[in-house]
Amino acid sequence: MSENRILNPQLESKIMSAEEAAALVPAGANVGVSGFTGAGYPKVVPVALAKRILDARVSGRKFRVSLWTGASTAPDLDSSLAIVDGVEKRLPYQSDPVLRNKINEGSVEYTDIHLSHVAQLAAFGFLGKLDVAIIEVVSITEDGKLIPSSSVGNNPTWLAQADKVILEVNSWQSAALEGMHDIYNVALPPHRTPIPLVKATDRIGSPYLEVDPAKVAAVVETHRPDRNSPFSPPDESSKKIAGHILEFLAHEVKKGRLPKNLLPLQSGVGNIANAVLSGLNEGPFENLTSYTEVLQDGMLDMIKSGKLVCASATAFSLSPDALSELNADLARYSRNIILRPQEISNNPEVIRRLGIIAMNGMIEADIYGNVNSTHIMGTKMMNGLGGSGDFARNAYLSIFMTPSVARGGDISCIVPMVSHIDHTEHDVQALVTEQGLADLRGLSPKQRAQAVIEHCAHPNFKPALKDYYKRAYDKSAGKHTPHLLEECLSWHLRYLEKGKM
Ligand code: COA
Repeated sequence: MSENRILNPQLESKIMSAEEAAALVPAGANVGVSGFTGAGYPKVVPVALAKRILDARVSGRKFRVSLWTGASTAPDLDSSLAIVDGVEKRLPYQSDPVLRNKINEGSVEYTDIHLSHVAQLAAFGFLGKLDVAIIEVVSITEDGKLIPSSSVGNNPTWLAQADKVILEVNSWQSAALEGMHDIYNVALPPHRTPIPLVKATDRIGSPYLEVDPAKVAAVVETHRPDRNSPFSPPDESSKKIAGHILEFLAHEVKKGRLPKNLLPLQSGVGNIANAVLSGLNEGPFENLTSYTEVLQDGMLDMIKSGKLVCASATAFSLSPDALSELNADLARYSRNIILRPQEISNNPEVIRRLGIIAMNGMIEADIYGNVNSTHIMGTKMMNGLGGSGDFARNAYLSIFMTPSVARGGDISCIVPMVSHIDHTEHDVQALVTEQGLADLRGLSPKQRAQAVIEHCAHPNFKPALKDYYKRAYDKSAGKHTPHLLEECLSWHLRYLEKGKM
């Protein structure tokens, strides 16, 4: 390492190799790791741990750990441990293909949790006892404070709860990240007081993480990049979805229901979300703010162009190009960016107070506006709920978006009844596909069904949906939410049997 990032003598005396640190993790341990959407996860100790687990398996010993994170991480963490069958249980969100397969074949337990709930569940012991925390940091100050890395996630909780802490000090992360974070600890009930955050730009805590040095068992030096996946340019469908949302927001401003600079934006991850952000970057709104979970390319572009004055998040989720740009000019961006613990970035109290505009992706929605964000054909996990529920339920305006069809048109993303529900009709205020936007606020179930079919369904599926709704209305004993219970999941069954809905 060219610069000394470990200034505290007590912690410097604990420097060791990744292999030596991994040897401190016992079989069966609950391990809390840093990391959120490929940012700020530990990069070398988990790989060394995977090797240890493999060696144990080869010699006939069972060795698995349970893995608690902020959200998704990267192949060197999730895949490495999943490939060697080293994961007993995983929470609260993942997006790793190898791990996903293990979850879906039934060999890994997965607990899919609202991201804002994790810290409290852990603190009360509902998840079990946290044995080890492995946390990436940028550096350690002389007085032993930790400068957080490119994500905060659940790190304050893991550092407080774990019996034993392993720190990875990653010199690849820019030292200029210092000062960008705002670490605020939420007291537990019954001692909780209001979180004093009234604007997305407010700083209410400290830029540093703290740890009891006596618990630090190892400090490992690394120089490894975050996982940064490239974004593909928005396709036609994403551009249309973005167009519908922008038109809707402009309409709301005209009606006086939103201020000219909108309300703080929350944007889910992925290409549709990025298309919406690039639409906003080219659109008429100025002085925008965001209070969101991850800061992605589109938001960085908006900060650069001056459209977005502030971005509050818990992690970066940037393409390699955007990351190089950020790192080259981090001091400039740090004026506009605040990284917070996920318990604060996703906090229902704050989301409700600020009046967030929440925009999240989904797998499918039904004609009544119930949303499935997580399950493929009702049984297979895709990624998880992430923060979508934290935002959707508490936002001022909760929008869900998807192309109207999937798998080359064989699947309709608007169905009679969703095969799994993450967000009920009560938490979904607008649905958007490339076909259009259904504003569901204040509508009854029957009105919702007509709006969803009319505005969001693909023309290839619209007649069948209309036919289903009409027959359900005619035959259903209850006319409040008409359904044909014997038929409502037949679209999914047909896809599973014939490969086409
Ligand atoms: N039925 C079955 N499969 C479907 C489907 C449907 N209705 N709609 C999409 N899919 C499949 C796609 O074919 C694709 O499969 P593949 O990876 O095997 O090709 C997969 O689901 C993902 O679809 P894609 O269109 O690429 O989705 P996306 O990148 O826009 O992500 C979610 C959509 C829902 C998976 C994603 O937004 C998510 O994980 N959301 C939950 C977490 C969240 O909202 N986080 C943000 C909160 S801050």
